[in-house]
This record gives sequence, C-alpha cells and structure tokens, in this order.
Amino acid sequence: MLKGKNIIVTGGAGFIGSHIAEALAPGNSVKIIDNLYTGLKSNIGSVKEFEFCNADITDRERIAKELREIDIVFHEGANVRIPDSIKNPQFDATVNIIGTLNVLEASRINDIQNVVFAASTSVYGDPVELPMTEGHPLNPKSPYAVGKRACEDYMKIYNELYGIKTVCLRYFNVYGPRQRADSPYSGVISIFADRLKNGKEVIVYGDGEQSRDFVNVKDVVTANILAAGSGRSGIYNVGSGTEITLNGLIKMMAGILKLKPEVVYRKKRQGDVRRSLADLTKIKKELGFEPEIRLEEGLREVLL
Ligand code: UD1
Repeated sequence: MLKGKNIIVTGGAGFIGSHIAEALAPGNSVKIIDNLYTGLKSNIGSVKEFEFCNADITDRERIAKELREIDIVFHEGANVRIPDSIKNPQFDATVNIIGTLNVLEASRINDIQNVVFAASTSVYGDPVELPMTEGHPLNPKSPYAVGKRACEDYMKIYNELYGIKTVCLRYFNVYGPRQRADSPYSGVISIFADRLKNGKEVIVYGDGEQSRDFVNVKDVVTANILAAGSGRSGIYNVGSGTEITLNGLIKMMAGILKLKPEVVYRKKRQGDVRRSLADLTKIKKELGFEPEIRLEEGLREVLL
C-alpha cells in the first residue's frame, strides 16, 4: 500500500519496529534508527535493503539530521520496560518524552507530513468499562504510562500547530516472533512459549483468571501502514477485540505443543489489571483495520 516512500522506523531493531521495517522495505526506502539498548541487530537480519543508523533518539541534532528527506516516521523507539520507569523515571522520561519531542521537532524542521506513534494501553490504567474505547478515562499507573500519555498530547499539538498528520496507536498486548523472553517483564506469551518449549513450569501471577487482549504483531504492522496512508490524525486502539484469561492461554499453548503444562501460581503482581479488551469500532471505521491473525494461529507460529 505504501510505495516509493522514504521511511524512518525509530526502534527499528526492536520487536515491533523490526516487523514494520520488514513489511515496508520492499518497495520503499527504509532507514532504521536504533541504539541497540533493547533492540537487536539479529531482529533485522530478514529485512531486505535498509539503512541502519546506530543513533539514540535523545540525540537531538543527530535525529534532526537523520530525518532529512523523510516522508513518514514510525516512532517505535522507547524504553519499553515499565519497572525500569518506576526505578528510574528520569531515564524513562528522557527516552520516551524528550526522545519523542526530538522526533516531532525533527519532523517539523524537515517538513515531514506523517508521524505514527507507538502509544500504549497503559494510559487507561484499571478499566472502568469493557471493551475500552478511546474515550475511556485515562489513569496512568506508572511513569512509563504518564510519559506515553504526554506523548499523545504532543502528537496532538504538533498536528494542531503545524499540520503534521500524527496518529497514536494504543497497542494492547502485542505478541509474535522476535519478542524477547529474557526478562520477567517481557510479554507473557514470549515467556510462556520459552518455558513450555524448554520443559519448564510456567509461573502465573495471581489466579490466572485475569484476561488480556493479545494482538499479533502482523496486525499491528497493518494498523501502522493503514494509519500512515490514511491522511488522518488521532488516537486508535490496536487490539484483537477478543480476550482470553491466562489459564485459557496456557491451555491453548499446551494444546498446540501437545503437552501437559506444569503451572505454578504466585502472588498477584502489584498494579496488574484484571481484564483488558479493546473496542475496535473507531479503527475499523476510520482506518479500515480488521485483525486477521487468530490467537491460536499466531501462537502456532511462536511455538512450532
Ligand atoms: C503491560 C502494560 C502494557 C505493555 C505490556 C508490555 C499496563 C496496564 N500494561 O501489560 O501497556 O504493552 O506490559 O510489557 O501497564 N504474567 C504471568 N507470568 C509471567 C509473566 C506475566 O502470570 O511469567 C501475567 C502478568 O502478571 C499479567 C499478564 O500475565 O497479568 C500479562 O503480563 P504482561 O505480558 O507483562 O503485560 P501486561 O502487564 O498486561
């Protein structure tokens, strides 16, 4: 759908950014910016024809230079570890807020028309009603979530002041190939997949009846491409529109691997939300988004 464009993906060596770069490299000129803090060079091994810049989004001058002659920015670069944002909020704000401002300023200076931003469902906090629409009250529960919310406001202001089309995509629980499993705060599917495949028990925090809306990274890529080509500005949920409990998830994963999982239940994690489910009415209507990968199909790719 996007062809012949000059594209930048910040955080392009990360889990989601690398999938966006991989999808767009054929037919477009793709530049990846990543400081390899949590991103990995190996993530972009399958991306054909791209330019790699080892740069930090906090480096204002470098970012302004790298964004010259660019048509579209996919801004995925961020501190993605919520616990790190609690331990070191200055670090999180520097990367996520100042880094985003650097990207927006560089976009303004270079007359870039489209910026798509990786926002987060963490801005909602505890759901007061389900499914959650974009109008759901915002109640950030971590410095990370506060930062993501601030960035949404900056995106809006840059649209209003300078006419840049800015789209914020509030990702629900994204999963898929290349998601890291090496921290206790990695996405739960990557952790469970890693442990089940290695014959280890899985650890569930709480009773396992908490639910999540897991969206496949390929659908997230589709949402990004639709957003960039839409000519719109605004905030959109990106989820699957379905929810599953962790117990249900474990059953599904064990069924695919044909094994009997060993499950250990531990104390519920502080700040854990009980349920999560995206209302996709707005993104379906305005961007024509339709999630295509069913959870079981996506899990097969991760597990087999
Ligand atoms: C959080 C953020 C979300 C972010 C995501 C990425 C909130 C409200 N949401 O989601 O914005 O995109 O992190 O990391 O802050 N769990 C286990 N065992 C494990 C690992 C996790 O039981 O080994 C449980 C967690 O306690 C949680 C569920 O699985 O109940 C999902 O956890 P996780 O994948 O870390 O994501 P969230 O906490 O939902």
